[in-house]
Amino acid sequence: MRKKAVMTMEKTELRILAVETSCDETAAAVMKNGREILSNVIYSQIDLHTLYGGVVPEIASRKHIEKICQVIDKALSDASVTLDDIDVIAVTYGPGLVGALLVGVSAAKAIAFAKKKPLVGVHHIEGHISANYIEYPELEPPFVTLVASGGHSHLALVKDYGVYEILGRTRDDAAGEAFDKVARAIGLGYPGGPKIDRAAKEGDPYAIELPRAKVGDSDFDFSFSGLKSAVLNYLNSEKMAGREIRVNDVAASFQQAVVDVLVSHTMEAIDRYGQKKLAIAGGVASNTALRAAFEEACAARDVRFYRPSPILCTDNAAMIGCAAYYEYLRGVRHGWDLNAVPALKLGETN
Ligand code: KG4
Ligand code: ZN
Repeated sequence: MRKKAVMTMEKTELRILAVETSCDETAAAVMKNGREILSNVIYSQIDLHTLYGGVVPEIASRKHIEKICQVIDKALSDASVTLDDIDVIAVTYGPGLVGALLVGVSAAKAIAFAKKKPLVGVHHIEGHISANYIEYPELEPPFVTLVASGGHSHLALVKDYGVYEILGRTRDDAAGEAFDKVARAIGLGYPGGPKIDRAAKEGDPYAIELPRAKVGDSDFDFSFSGLKSAVLNYLNSEKMAGREIRVNDVAASFQQAVVDVLVSHTMEAIDRYGQKKLAIAGGVASNTALRAAFEEACAARDVRFYRPSPILCTDNAAMIGCAAYYEYLRGVRHGWDLNAVPALKLGETN
């Protein structure tokens, strides 16, 4: 027992195999000491779900089952390691689609059990935030973070590694969900975010007047369903009047409304909490207009702006391995009873 403790202390490299299957990406990665990517394999199911205009949960979990072993094997071989070289197994256990999460959780538990490795369950949003630690090795808490993805919109103060104060969240649709729904309504297809981003470059962001929703009793909560309805109403009234829909203008005006709200809430939080660092994360953080608006707002206040490259904004397992590293250092270990928790809250442990 004592010998084992000494060996662990002497070991300077900690390798984590991380698994992520919360939605429609089957992903595995090997991380060294939290922030260094040894491999990062992502099998995206997007083409499959595009046929149906959005993610079909049952299809997602079946595809995860089909792909998970292949993806894990590739992550190990890309990193030139075997399971014997791995110190910790990490996995996203929520939030997400229950059937999808279960595939990753079961695979991670089976490997950890068979190889007698510690198991660390990770919150998906904590993973997204941690993508910034990989991109910026010098970044340390505290900082303000905005996580905007297909399933989540969270504004939080990162007080320390793994310690969050939630300042605001969406009351209805997530920002990415609104992008996807509006894209479908204007015939751009799935996934809507990148398509609206592209179309908006050719449109006028002030062509159509759209609401910037404020949630009455909160300065930091978001609401995007009213904006989505305003776009749908506009499309209906234009159709009834027999006018042609200018898709690029609709895309640009909608995108501008989302960007305005995300940026104003976030900068308000930066000011209120006296912070000098902002890190954004999640699929919507790839949006070029959002990145440009934050760059400008941060430069005006002398705030440092951190944004992961697009491959780390999308769902991936490297970010899960990074989050797991700090959880592991804090002593977090999960048992064989670890389960998928589809509605897991940030800062909550199960
Ligand atoms: O983080 P992510 O890959 O998965 C979730 O955890 O949800 O985010 C996917 C979401 C989708 O709604 C997608 O439309 C949106 O991110 N997205 C974008 C862009 N790229 C992806 N939204 C706006 N602009 C983009 N360039
Ligand atoms: Zn995500």
